[in-house]
Amino acid sequence: ETTVVTIKNTATAPTIDKNIYGHFAEHLGRCIYGGFFVGDTSKIPNTAGVRNDIIDALKKLKIPNLRWPGGCFADTYHWKDGIGPKENRPTIVNRWWGGTTEDNSFGTHDFLNLCETLGAEPYLSGNVGSGTVQELADWVQYANFGGKSPMSDLRIKNGRKEPWKVKFWGIGNEAWGCGGNMTANYYAGEYRKYATFMSDWENTGGITRIASGSNSADYNWTEVLMKDIPLNMLGGVGVHHYAVIDWAKKGDGTDFTEFEYFQTMKSALKMEELVTKHSAIMDKYDPEKKVAMIVDEWGAWYEVEKGTNPGFLYQQNTMRDAVLAGSTLNIFNNHADRVRMANLAQCVNVLQAVILTDEARMILTPTYYVMQLYSVHQDAQQLPITIKSPLYTYKEESLPALSVSASKDKKGLVHISLVNVDSKKENTVEIDLNELGIKTATGMIIGSPKLQDFNSFDNPTKIQPVAFKGFEIKKGKLTVKLPPFSVIMLEGK
Ligand code: AHR
Repeated sequence: ETTVVTIKNTATAPTIDKNIYGHFAEHLGRCIYGGFFVGDTSKIPNTAGVRNDIIDALKKLKIPNLRWPGGCFADTYHWKDGIGPKENRPTIVNRWWGGTTEDNSFGTHDFLNLCETLGAEPYLSGNVGSGTVQELADWVQYANFGGKSPMSDLRIKNGRKEPWKVKFWGIGNEAWGCGGNMTANYYAGEYRKYATFMSDWENTGGITRIASGSNSADYNWTEVLMKDIPLNMLGGVGVHHYAVIDWAKKGDGTDFTEFEYFQTMKSALKMEELVTKHSAIMDKYDPEKKVAMIVDEWGAWYEVEKGTNPGFLYQQNTMRDAVLAGSTLNIFNNHADRVRMANLAQCVNVLQAVILTDEARMILTPTYYVMQLYSVHQDAQQLPITIKSPLYTYKEESLPALSVSASKDKKGLVHISLVNVDSKKENTVEIDLNELGIKTATGMIIGSPKLQDFNSFDNPTKIQPVAFKGFEIKKGKLTVKLPPFSVIMLEGK
């Protein structure tokens, strides 16, 4: 059976903001310490203490932005602990993530300089839960002000003359939970107060203040923020959603079976409903769509997995994660009118990481390769899709088996990303090319014989994009045969 997909070529469609391809680096497990940051005395080649192999890999992804320092950690973090001579910085206890101690050797300068090296916009999450308005206002002044002031003097004393001009500022994180257990109304009031004192300083582009997002389907949270916060104070509203397995339903999760895969994808594909419903609420108050939806945490969170959780929240990223990433990014691309930033959780060594490291080596995960293939959509013009997907059925439940998004870049190249979520069946797609004006195409595919396949330190290139020939163009129609659980990128001209 063939599924007809319509792709429109309309100049009124939105641009797919490159920031949809953003990442997230929290002080959690081996993400920062022992991941990104090994210190400048390490034998591992590094730039100011950050591993060069990670820097190179992220540059190749064209990483547009990086969120730091949390997550839950952000609402415990006092940024002044992480500036000045390293030997004077206090050692703290990371109480959200395992009670480990940290010497604050990775702080504001280290992070913002890293972003500069990467060519990525920094996205700083401020501490609302246990911090003060003054503390966050000072952080903006420290990072952004080029004139003479107490905070810019301090920055210059600490070795940095020019301000970094940080654009993206989060006002707390998960304020409904680890960020302070606040009600939506209480947080909206806190937000207004913080936003009032976080002035722009000299960031000529202006700062974008981002409200702590709802927990997945908490629509009331978004409604209250949109209603209670003046829109000119609100650059973005966050949403967090992790794909999780309902382990209670079956098994102890020690074996990643069809059941677990289906549950994971069911949870991941819920993103479509979340984005649609949160957007509809935002539209009521902001029909011109000035306020961005910022999905600043997304990915898969596998709580129990025998043998694949060798470290704290370290997950063995597998082929299933590539399917999850490809289909989620298609959702964001298709909602680019409102979703203008998203951050995969997380970047290195924890949760759905794109990079896993050991003392000397690095693995690029299947998710990394999806982000790499999809980087062509960054800042390209969305081409709206219509699809009536066939179903992927497991026992009595079903999910859409196909996920597609498309864009046209500044050179006029058309990119179509297609995912077959079905773990067993090949699916065929037909696209009319007359409207798109495509005559020829090339393709790449990410696939593997088993869903649980992964790149290991012994076999780091088992899964990576390879040339794809399973399509043909005939009489103005493109026909694509998608193998089970595969991610495909076609480039047409
Ligand atoms: O990414 C891990 C955690 O997930 C973050 O700290 C928190 O914001 C979310 O609950």
